[in-house]
Amino acid sequence: MLHYRVMTVDDLDAVAETERRVYPFPWTRGNFADSLAASHGAWLALERGQMIGYAVMMQVLDEAHLLNITVLPELQRKGRGSALLQHLFGLARMRLAIRMLLEVRPGNISGQALYKRHGFVEIGRRRDYYPAHQGREDAIVMAREL
Ligand SMILES: CC(C)(COP(=O)(O)OP(=O)(O)OC[C@H]1O[C@@H](n2cnc3c(N)ncnc32)[C@H](O)[C@@H]1OP(=O)(O)O)[C@@H](O)C(=O)NCCC(=O)NCCS
Repeated sequence: MLHYRVMTVDDLDAVAETERRVYPFPWTRGNFADSLAASHGAWLALERGQMIGYAVMMQVLDEAHLLNITVLPELQRKGRGSALLQHLFGLARMRLAIRMLLEVRPGNISGQALYKRHGFVEIGRRRDYYPAHQGREDAIVMAREL
């Protein structure tokens, strides 16, 4: 059973440590701190009081922009990412969003599979969006009506 709570500054060390374990180009502690300072929505998913994942979502007018969604590596592929994403749909709808947008790396097959499974479709590309080992990598932009 997952529980959710708002991410606070006290969580940032654990979040940034997880981030470094998950991504070759992780968000820094400062990136998360900036998100909190900018009042983007940021949440932890917890199981028996332990963080198992987190997400950051920015809302501009009626569009929710998913900036980060992460599940601990050892707990992936067991439905937690889906549950967290559905929780975010509910939060965005409560804030009267009608659409959710996100970017994903073309090489991130698990991310794309998760999003497609939850109704996202590709709506475009952003050139040179992500840092990569050699130069930069495009982003696939995906969207879903809420
Ligand atoms: C993407 C992520 C949040 C998904 O969370 P999760 O708990 O693993 O996802 P779920 O178990 O709910 O999977 C839901 C569906 O997504 C797809 N999926 C998830 N991981 C997959 C993988 N490794 N390969 C293929 N499909 C995958 C499947 O369709 C899966 O459903 P199924 O298991 O019934 O086939 C998680 O894998 C993660 O943190 N990845 C690293 C960080 C990341 O890439 N985040 C997204 C950045 S855009």
